[in-house]
Amino acid sequence: MNKESIPESPDTERDPERSIEFEFVRATENAALNAIHWVGRGDKEQADAAACDAIRGTFDQVNLCGEVVSGEGEKDDAPGIFQGERLGNWKPGSTCFDIALDPIDGTRNVARGMANSISVIGAAQAVEGEGMRMLALPSYYSHKLAYGRQVAQAMGKFSTSENWLDRPLAETLNFVGGALDKRVRDLVVLILDRDRNEAFVNQVREAGATLRMISDGDIAAAVAPALPDSGVDLYVGIGGTPEGILAATALRALGGEIQMRMWFRSVTERQKLGGGLPDAQLTKVYCTQEIVPGDSAIFCATGISDSPLVPGVKLLGKTAITHSLLMRAKSRTVRYIRAVHDLENKTIHLRSGQRDCLI
Ligand code: FBP
Repeated sequence: MNKESIPESPDTERDPERSIEFEFVRATENAALNAIHWVGRGDKEQADAAACDAIRGTFDQVNLCGEVVSGEGEKDDAPGIFQGERLGNWKPGSTCFDIALDPIDGTRNVARGMANSISVIGAAQAVEGEGMRMLALPSYYSHKLAYGRQVAQAMGKFSTSENWLDRPLAETLNFVGGALDKRVRDLVVLILDRDRNEAFVNQVREAGATLRMISDGDIAAAVAPALPDSGVDLYVGIGGTPEGILAATALRALGGEIQMRMWFRSVTERQKLGGGLPDAQLTKVYCTQEIVPGDSAIFCATGISDSPLVPGVKLLGKTAITHSLLMRAKSRTVRYIRAVHDLENKTIHLRSGQRDCLI
């Protein structure tokens, strides 16, 4: 090619997401790999700390101005990455991203050596003077309803005037069955196994749909209905708010939808966390587009243990195999990335040691 015909500004500069998205995957891969030796060891704090260390350290080497707008909920006192923290090296001129992340969704599962744990990052390119590109909600928990593209299309683009959270689940399940051309009894609904979700469990059972309870990890559960072949049709119930923001990022890229509304365990918690907000905001039902409002949305997740999204890390001989899912709203490309890491050579840059360490 004639060198003069090469454009001055490569595509990656005009659309920085295209290259930076792979740095996000490297971060979740490293988090999963750094947490892997904590699987089954009964120590969720250490697992979480290892994943956070790898994410911080990986980003320390990336030209990026990242601001965490939705981090771990502070309810657990976990050693997490919290709202307001900066990620990336903040080199002048680097692209700015609002970031939501959960270094491990399913820390208890990791500690118990159980299935369904992933490392997750969501991001949206920040635009100067335009405010946050990902919503930050103050509650620990939200009531959520998530479904895939076919159901979303049947509902019509959800607007705040169409609140499906408060409809009886029997009605919603009938609608979902119609949209997917399935009998209600063949629909699969995921619910987080918590006492607070008992009413949803009862309604699903009464309607005759198939119920699957999960012990932890409701990002994968909320994204699953939007993935082909997940075998899941609907996610419903009360789970973590930051997890809902991350699910919304994925659903933006998949064409699915989530509706969510903040939920508080008590009046005291509502006052403590949402005290400054008007009632209309505290009770508002947010839709996917309101949670991640711009046209930029990147989602990536790497499996630690097997989940409906991706398989977990496999240790085979002197290699570790990771499986990640990477997607972005602009292109709607969904990539499944299987990486083989040579454990004799693979290093992770950890923030704690400020150096590259073998796993
Ligand atoms: P973490 O592993 O990040 O702590 O979250 C696990 C999880 O199951 C989430 O997937 C879910 O949204 C949340 O906890 C529910 O919170 P709780 O366990 O307090 O009911």
